[in-house]
Amino acid sequence: MTIKTVILAAGKGSRMKSKRPKVLHKIAAKPMLQWVAESVANLNSELVVVYGHGGEAVKKSLPTFQVNWAEQVEQLGTGHAVQQAIPYISTDDTVLILYGDVPLIQESTLQLMVKACNSKTMSLLTVKLDQPTGYGRIVRKNNKVTKIVEQKDATPEELLINEVNTGIMAVNGGLLKGWLAALKNNNAQAEYYLTDIIEMAVNDGVAIETIQPSNKYEVQGVNSTAQLNELERYQQSVHAEYFMQQGVTLADANRFDVRGEVKKLGSDIFIDCNVLLEGAISIGSEVSIGPNCVISNAIIDDNVTIKANSVLEDCIIGSNSDVGPFARIRPGTKLGSDTKVGNFVEIKKTNLGNGSKVSHLSYIGDAEIGQEVNIGAGTITCNYDGVNKYTTTIESGAFIGSDTQLVAPVTVGKNATIAAGTTLTKNAPEGVLTLSRAKQVTFKNWKRTNKE
Ligand code: UD1
Ligand code: MG
Repeated sequence: MTIKTVILAAGKGSRMKSKRPKVLHKIAAKPMLQWVAESVANLNSELVVVYGHGGEAVKKSLPTFQVNWAEQVEQLGTGHAVQQAIPYISTDDTVLILYGDVPLIQESTLQLMVKACNSKTMSLLTVKLDQPTGYGRIVRKNNKVTKIVEQKDATPEELLINEVNTGIMAVNGGLLKGWLAALKNNNAQAEYYLTDIIEMAVNDGVAIETIQPSNKYEVQGVNSTAQLNELERYQQSVHAEYFMQQGVTLADANRFDVRGEVKKLGSDIFIDCNVLLEGAISIGSEVSIGPNCVISNAIIDDNVTIKANSVLEDCIIGSNSDVGPFARIRPGTKLGSDTKVGNFVEIKKTNLGNGSKVSHLSYIGDAEIGQEVNIGAGTITCNYDGVNKYTTTIESGAFIGSDTQLVAPVTVGKNATIAAGTTLTKNAPEGVLTLSRAKQVTFKNWKRTNKE
């Protein structure tokens, strides 16, 4: 038996009021369609995605998955959509049908669906809602499911039913093929309803086993940006919950967002309000992250303090280091241990050796900096001549006076001192003082011109 997962993703999503295909709208920075594909990643199933609107963009959205793409040129209903996947389905397959706009479905629920499905039983995911309006209702007789009736086709009594169809089902491939071929569109919406196969199953003596999701968000669909936001906030609460389970202290679980994958969390981590973590993140023990920090693809070692309003991207922060407030760490930067990058410092593609400090108002780009180097306030690496980028090398123990410009390529030798205000255009030898500075003069007899 092979499991074939059919994801319906052809809908336009007009209510999103967006040019982007609905299933490419994101939750925690990941397209909804990818959430759905990932929910079956451990099921060992083959994917068939039925696409229509925004075809090329949708097809590009699952680069890491092996997908059979089935185009639905005209959207004639959910049954018609599944028909497009039929060429990929064999008689003895178990077919799991998912919606591309129901992104938070859980693998554990789908495992139950697949397990309950065989050639004599199909499984249907249903949920009881206080507000069932709009959904297909699950009609039962003597407690057994007899059919699904859509909102627009339902009688007043049927509209009172609060058990609804989530749309998610698992069904034997051979049975599905037969039933789909028999679908008719003589209903209120003149559509081929997938839900009509339930009545056909009952007529063929196939049992309908209903399964419920573990929470309502699993089966919540997205039709508007407001509904997208509801799931975003729910998913972020799941992330916050996970962090707290790992012992992280969050100043405010409602003002903390993760848009990526957390690789490592040490102990005694404190995260202040409005922190955003993106991409792959590792955080060591005894780390404190101040308010309003944005941290993307970073490895943060033990005992690091990142102060308020710092932005870190594609970088490694060594242990016992201090970053910020208002620091900008750009891609390709590696701070050694016991380093300091202070306020209003921008640092890019730079190795800052152990114990080195850039405390105030500097731009350091394309630099190789040794250990125990002190870089004074206002220092700038002039790394770009308008065409090419060049490296600045500062060897261990060097002291760079404030307001120095290092015109790269240039090297400052070991233990060298560069006096404040220097524009360094040639290498500075090790161990001695180098300065470039106009001589200071005082004009003793000079007087200001007075106003008449
Ligand atoms: C469908 C179900 C309804 C269920 C509800 C749950 C049918 C007839 N009705 O209704 O019982 O309660 O979902 O949300 O199945 N799609 C296509 N091609 C189409 C039509 C739809 O790919 O031709 C896709 C949509 O993009 C969407 C999904 O199928 O992802 C469901 O379609 P939608 O139009 O939202 O169905 P509902 O009317 O909500
Ligand atoms: Mg819908």
